[in-house]
Amino acid sequence: MTVQINLPNTSYDIIIDKLSQITIDKKVVIVTNPTIADLHLDYLLSKLDIENLSVVKIPDGEQYKTLSTIENILEHCFEQKLNRSSVLIAFGGGVIGDMTGFTASLYQRGIEFIQIPTTLLSQVDASVGGKTGVNNKFGKNLIGAFHQPKAVYIDSSFLTTLPKREFSAGVAEIVKMAVCFNKEFFEWLEKNDLRDGKNIDIAIQKSVETKAWVVSQDEKEKGLRAALNYGHTFGHVIENETKYEKYLHGEAVGIGICMANALSVKLGIMSEDEQKRVKILLEQYDIPTTYNIEDIEDFYEHFFLDKKALDSKIKFILAIGIGDCKITDKVSKNDVIAMLEEF
Ligand SMILES: NC(=O)c1ccc[n+]([C@@H]2O[C@H](COP(=O)([O-])OP(=O)(O)OC[C@H]3O[C@@H](n4cnc5c(N)ncnc54)[C@H](O)[C@@H]3O)[C@@H](O)[C@H]2O)c1
Ligand SMILES: [Zn+2]
Repeated sequence: MTVQINLPNTSYDIIIDKLSQITIDKKVVIVTNPTIADLHLDYLLSKLDIENLSVVKIPDGEQYKTLSTIENILEHCFEQKLNRSSVLIAFGGGVIGDMTGFTASLYQRGIEFIQIPTTLLSQVDASVGGKTGVNNKFGKNLIGAFHQPKAVYIDSSFLTTLPKREFSAGVAEIVKMAVCFNKEFFEWLEKNDLRDGKNIDIAIQKSVETKAWVVSQDEKEKGLRAALNYGHTFGHVIENETKYEKYLHGEAVGIGICMANALSVKLGIMSEDEQKRVKILLEQYDIPTTYNIEDIEDFYEHFFLDKKALDSKIKFILAIGIGDCKITDKVSKNDVIAMLEEF
């Protein structure tokens, strides 16, 4: 199946299917890491009909999502004498996707790139929508560019080698899309196990359709697109407090979704029954839903270290029941603190 994303300056296809032959008549560099290369590079190469091809491997891990890695990828591109019509292929999870896209936006002021995501999180979220970038000591994804891929190829058979925790982290982002935007999809998720191979393609398609719809309304995150940060305002604080060691991003988002929902319940825009249903769904995939807050004032202050607080007000994304949401900076500190005390 193919989902199309239409933006003011470009449109592209997101193909969700077993990889078919991809022919490219240009110079191409595949960007990947040793983990993914060992598992899946041969398979990918068997599907590519490209004469002029090289591979650059960068170290595996979020800690390498830096400008200095970008510099290394750029150097490889120059050594290979890429020109302005050359193409990069991102082959990996969100870390590879974000860095390959960013490199493509920089090389000679911008060349094309293709996303071939291999984690569930990158298949349902990161590979679509054109946000690219790296981290620095001031925070995550603070340096980057909007640069849309030319195409996205999603082959869920890559997921068979994905560790269980990484799979669940991706499910948290799927639940995010359903709770914020699509009640029917949420009800479908309650009835269908994603660990069953035939269901995962449906869930990927629904998530990608949702993300494509959101991004097509608001490519540069001036409004609606911020709703994709549901669960993330709290999640980022949790990741930060636990030094990015205890939880995967999607796991922290799972807890964050539960905190955001507790706030929705407090404000009377979500029922306790709906809150419970979301929690049960997350727990089916062993996604954490509780968190021991050591110091509540401290936790609250941490919001302001997040990049969104570059604008000094905290934006909360609150679910309205299941299937709808709102973005607001009008939640009182008292309500947040009261929710955190009960959490
Ligand atoms: N651009 C966006 O819109 C967007 C959205 C969400 C997240 N992100 C970014 O995505 C990143 C997280 O992505 P992620 O969760 O994919 O993490 P990741 O890219 O670090 O991948 C997780 C781990 O799984 C390994 N891996 C990848 N594919 C595999 C496979 N098929 N089998 C076995 N192992 C495999 C990777 O080598 C890595 O060790 C973050 O940097 C985040 O900022 C970007
Ligand atoms: Zn996320």
